[in-house]
Amino acid sequence: YFFCKTFVKMLLCFILMFLLPFGQATLPLVINTWPFEHATAAAWSALQAGGSVLDAVEKGCARCEADQCDGSVGFGGSPDERGETTLDAMIMNGNTMEVGAVGDLRRIKNAIGVARAVMERTDHTLLVGESASVFAENMGFTAEDLTTNKSISIFTQWLKDNCQPNYRKNVSPDPSQYCGPYKPGATLRQRRKRQIDIHAHDTIGMIVIGKDGQVAAGTSTNGANHKVPGRVGDSPIAGAGSYADSTAGGAAATGDGDVMMRFLPSYLAVELMKTGTDPSTACKTSISRIKIHYPGFFGAVICANTTGHYGAACNKVPGFSKFTFVVYNSQSNSPLLQSVDCF
Ligand SMILES: *[C@@H]1O[C@H](CO)[C@@H](O)[C@H](O)[C@H]1NC(C)=O
Ligand SMILES: *[C@@H]1O[C@H](CO)[C@@H](O)[C@H](O)[C@H]1NC(C)=O
Repeated sequence: YFFCKTFVKMLLCFILMFLLPFGQATLPLVINTWPFEHATAAAWSALQAGGSVLDAVEKGCARCEADQCDGSVGFGGSPDERGETTLDAMIMNGNTMEVGAVGDLRRIKNAIGVARAVMERTDHTLLVGESASVFAENMGFTAEDLTTNKSISIFTQWLKDNCQPNYRKNVSPDPSQYCGPYKPGATLRQRRKRQIDIHAHDTIGMIVIGKDGQVAAGTSTNGANHKVPGRVGDSPIAGAGSYADSTAGGAAATGDGDVMMRFLPSYLAVELMKTGTDPSTACKTSISRIKIHYPGFFGAVICANTTGHYGAACNKVPGFSKFTFVVYNSQSNSPLLQSVDCF
């Protein structure tokens, strides 16, 4: 009996040893979506240099904007129907509940920097389009072309493919055959479905928890390939793209923003953590809520609470069964790739 008891204990210890590294809590903590390790490292360096959690989120996301991460963040990616790259970003201070955000930002590379300027240099929360670019220039950001050879080639290929796939529906001419201009009308033929490309990720979403549990979160993206000009996704919307509350934790979302923003998944996850739900479960519940209406949606959510526990969840669809994110804390001592099985 004694043998069994110790054996079971040893077994439990053994299992725990393997389980603990995932979700182990130490502060400070940096966590972000996708294997964007340079961004994680940049955020960590900002903290080590004495920066605030907001500095860390800004520096981390800005690194992705400058490096273009995998092409889905920053300049030169996701040209819209006119071939232009536009950027969305937000940053949130979980101590004060202040938010700064930009949507459809044009000609400025450092979108998260402009988002922070909106937060710190205006009483507003969200600026969009051409006027956001003028604001940015006035605040000292450099205006430059966001077009690159790569974005031109994505765009020209799309034109060659008769502007397929696209985001139009119930329009005429039939968008499965022609490019616009589109008018309301019947779709005669089914347009080609947008493929989920897990290599073309979406957004950097980042949560930083400071050593005293202060929370900041932010996002940056160039949105969706071939979007309708003027489209703003979930990333710059507080509670959708990300959310931070220093009494609970932070969350950030990535994926099909047009669908996900209808459910405020980051807000929901943070609210759940506020009532004591553990981060993994909070993320899962956020995903489940969307699944009820859109079982085939592509997306993931990362969550962290104020003690540095974290988790993630994603919706399992063909081609997307595992979601990778990065964690940096004193335990890992380097950007640590983690992944979660989608459900
Ligand atoms: C972009 O394309 C132009 C013309 O084809 C070429 O001259 C230029 O070197 C390219 N730029 C880069 C950065 O590859
Ligand atoms: C964070 O989540 C962990 C895991 O569920 C939990 O043990 C811890 O108490 C939570 N922290 C807070 C401040 O709620």
